[in-house]
Amino acid sequence: MSTPAPSAASLYADHLATLQARTATALERAGLDHLVIPSGTLHYQVFDDRDYPYAVNPQFKAWLPLTRNPGSWLIVTPGARPKLVYLQPRDYWHVVPQAPSGDWVEHFDIVVIRKPEEAQQHLPKNAARCAILGEPQSALGQYGAYKPNNPQAVVDHLEFHRAYKTPYELAMLREATRRAVRAHAAAERAFRAGASEFGIHLAYCQAAGQDANELPYGNIVALNEHAAVLHYTELGRLAPDPVRSFLIDAGASHAGYAADITRTYAADTASEFQSMIDAVDAAQRAMCDQVRDGVDYVRIHLDAHLALAGVLRDFGVLRVSPEQAVETGVSAAFFPHGIGHGIGLQVHDVAGFTASETGGRIATPAGHPFLRLTRPLAPGMVVTIEPGVYFIDMLLEDLRDAGKGDAVNWDRVEAFRPCGGIRIEDNVVCTDGAPENLTRDAWPVDDAA
Ligand code: GLY
Ligand code: MN
Ligand code: MN
Repeated sequence: MSTPAPSAASLYADHLATLQARTATALERAGLDHLVIPSGTLHYQVFDDRDYPYAVNPQFKAWLPLTRNPGSWLIVTPGARPKLVYLQPRDYWHVVPQAPSGDWVEHFDIVVIRKPEEAQQHLPKNAARCAILGEPQSALGQYGAYKPNNPQAVVDHLEFHRAYKTPYELAMLREATRRAVRAHAAAERAFRAGASEFGIHLAYCQAAGQDANELPYGNIVALNEHAAVLHYTELGRLAPDPVRSFLIDAGASHAGYAADITRTYAADTASEFQSMIDAVDAAQRAMCDQVRDGVDYVRIHLDAHLALAGVLRDFGVLRVSPEQAVETGVSAAFFPHGIGHGIGLQVHDVAGFTASETGGRIATPAGHPFLRLTRPLAPGMVVTIEPGVYFIDMLLEDLRDAGKGDAVNWDRVEAFRPCGGIRIEDNVVCTDGAPENLTRDAWPVDDAA
C-alpha cells in the first residue's frame, strides 16, 4: 500500500519548523533574541500621491503566503509561537486585507492593528535585542528605534539556507509553474493567430489570471529582431509583417513563489530557424540533466558555451571549432548571459554566490561576469537552465572590432539575424537522484484545467 502524500497543511507546518530552526541558529550567531520582519511599506512617486506597486519584503513572505499586506510585522522568538501583527486599516478608499484566514493562521499568535504605528506596542520591548530585517522605510518608534538593522550574520544564514527549498516550497513552485505553462500555451496561440507583442502579453495575463504587477517580473515578449534584446519589454502595439519568430520569457506567481520560463517559436515550422530552435532545445535538455547533487553550476555554464558554439558551428554560423570559439571569447558574443540562477521567493533568488552559511563569496569565472550562481548544486536547490543564442548587432560589431571576425560566417549571421535569437528556459529541482524539471513536467497543457 502506498503512503498518502502529505497534505499542504502538514507541508506548511514542516516548512515553519525548518524556518524556526534556521532562525534559532542565525540569532545565536548574532547574539540576538528575536527576529523581527516588517512586511514593508507603500512607496510614493516623487511630488505625487500615487504609490508604486507594493512589493512585499521577501523575508516576510518566506514565512507567510501574504503578498499584499503592507504595514504588518512578524516576530519570531526561538521557543515561542511566532507572532503576526496584522495591519487591517480602517480605510474606505481602498480594499483592505481580509481578516487573516487560511491554513497558516493556526501557527501564529495574531494581533490585528488598524494603524501602522500601532505595531510598535506589539514588538519586543528591547529593540537592541532584535534582528530587524527589512527596508529603512519600515522604521517605527521614536528616533526610528525599530529601524531595520539587517545583521549580516542573520541575513547570511537565512539567505544561504533559502537556496534549499522545503517540500512546501517545491509544492508552491510547482503551482506557479502550472500557471505559467498554461499562460505560455495561450501566448503561443496568440502568436500563431497573428497578435502583436502587446496582444500576446494580454493573452498571457488573461490565461495566467495575473496582471503585470502580480507576475514575478515584466513579461518579455519579442517578435522577430526584438528577440535579440535580452530583456525586451517594450510590447509593440502592431504585429510586424512578416512575423518570423517569437521569444517569450514570462513567469507566474503562487503564494509568493515565482516561475521563470522562456520559449522560442518559429512562424514557419519547416524553417531553418525552427531547426536551430530544436538544436538549442536538445542541448538545453541535456543541460537540465546536469542539475544533480554535487555538480558545480559553473561547470554547467561553461559546458553550455561549448554546446551552443557546437550548434552555431553545425548551422554554419561559426567557422571555428566550439573549443576555439570558447577560448577566444567568440561564443560569448552569441551567448552573452549566464546559464541561469536560483529561483524561489525571488525570480533571481538570493545568495547565488554565498560560500557558506557564515558568508563568503564564490567568484564567477574570469570572462563570465553575468553568471548569477556559483554554488555547487545540492538537493532542494531550484535553478533555471536558460541557454540562448542571439544575433546582437552591438556584440557582433565588437567581435569584428576585436579582429575576431574571421571566426564567423557573416552571410549565415545575416540569414538568422531577422529572427533575433533563441532562449529556452526551464526551472529544475536538484534532488538526490534524477532532476525534477518543473517546467517540462507541467507541459503539455491540459486546457480543460
Ligand atoms: N526572466 C529573467 C531571467 O530569465 O532571468
Ligand atoms: Mn531566468
Ligand atoms: Mn526568464
